[in-house]
Amino acid sequence: MSQDIRIGMLGFGTVGTGTYRMLVDNREAITKKIGRGIDIAKIGIRDPKKERALDQSHFTTDLESIVTDPSIDVVVELIGGIDPAADLVEKALLNGKHVVTANKELIAKHGSRLVHLAKSKNLDLHYEAAVGGGIPLIQPLKHQLAGNDVIRMMGILNGTSNYILTKMEQEQADFADALKEAQAAGYAEADPTNDVDGIDTSYKISILASIAFGKQVPVENVFREGIRNIGITDIEYARSWGYKIKLVGVVDAIGKDAVCVRVHPSMIPGDHPLASVNGVYNALWLHGDFVGDVMFSGRGAGSDPTGSAVMGDLIDVGRNIVGGGSGSAIPYEAGMKVVPIDDVHSSFYLRLRVKDRPKTLGQISMVFGEYAISIAEMQMKTLPDNLGEIVFLTHRASERSFAQALREVENLEAVDQVAGVIRVEDKQ
Ligand code: NDP
Ligand code: HSE
Repeated sequence: MSQDIRIGMLGFGTVGTGTYRMLVDNREAITKKIGRGIDIAKIGIRDPKKERALDQSHFTTDLESIVTDPSIDVVVELIGGIDPAADLVEKALLNGKHVVTANKELIAKHGSRLVHLAKSKNLDLHYEAAVGGGIPLIQPLKHQLAGNDVIRMMGILNGTSNYILTKMEQEQADFADALKEAQAAGYAEADPTNDVDGIDTSYKISILASIAFGKQVPVENVFREGIRNIGITDIEYARSWGYKIKLVGVVDAIGKDAVCVRVHPSMIPGDHPLASVNGVYNALWLHGDFVGDVMFSGRGAGSDPTGSAVMGDLIDVGRNIVGGGSGSAIPYEAGMKVVPIDDVHSSFYLRLRVKDRPKTLGQISMVFGEYAISIAEMQMKTLPDNLGEIVFLTHRASERSFAQALREVENLEAVDQVAGVIRVEDKQ
């Protein structure tokens, strides 16, 4: 067998060590599948004093020396963020190296440009691990599902927030404690704001939408709300009406040439396949015109599942190198038309803390009536200090009408606080 494929790895944290462990544990099978061995020749890190699973001689803090090293065949970028990852990936491609990355921020913001660069040089640029951890999503969207017009995609795409919401639902755990556990397990981003505020999901859903529709969906056009305002009270009301609360990324095709892309918590009907996706598990549910409904699920974060996705990409690149095939990077163009959320119609859950006195309910109902928002369900209870709680489930209404009604309701003297607003997926 000829010389091993030489890998330059940038970053050796949660994902880097998972990828390395998989190579060590499954080396024989991986070598057979590629037809040549893989040698992790150099690893770039930031802190030279950290203890590592490999001999220190493998490590360097000079990452530029890796992406310019003529003996390196493939660069695996597992640092995260834009700086210095974007520069290093670009230099790796300019120096004729295939690239595998798990960096969703990089692909969401610079994917179109970098994939074009890879394609122009007949190189691979793969990023399966960037969305859904260990779940194969990118390749099926690029290949097996590519003949479909995608009508709708909805995904639980962040392991950290799904872990937190599941702990809150099943164990009444405190938000901050559940986040700490997710961080300790290696699920969270370097800045967990990205996870809980839906930023990570917005990167991932923009990548999936860009592939599915063949044009880049700019991440700044993705409507975004996170899970910080979800309380155990909301989870309990949702349960009482047969729903689970999940942070979802949603893409709706609007006509032939536009999409609406959004990230927010949703109340998902208990019998929807996404409702039973718990803990660190992620899932993507998709409806295509010919395939119908499809769902992919698996562990969406963590060292081993993400290492598995990185290794899958590496094997793909290795096979291309050994077989002499050309790079299979599939570029997408800039400029997908993204419509704002205002015209989307949803049902809504609304929890209000109100003054417990006559006419309160009537005043709120009047406002709903003015904006043609009709109530599907309602619960009321008395709270201490002459306050009450009223919780509504509405029928479908446009975002614009609901937002206008909400502003007026919030300003009613009888309303003490808008305690929760969550979009609701309709029961089938
Ligand atoms: P970690 O923080 O665990 O590891 C990051 C690695 O990059 C560390 O080895 C760190 O060095 C190195 N590094 C960071 N900044 C620099 C720098 N400026 N110069 C040199 N080295 C640097 O991150 P993860 O492994 O969790 O994530 C890596 C990527 O994978 C990110 O893009 C993330 O979004 C993505 N991802 C993560 C998943 C997960 O479950 N954690 C799942 C899917 C994707 P040092 O070791 O010295 O600190
Ligand atoms: N922080 C991310 C998550 C890692 O929790 O899903 C996987 O992309």
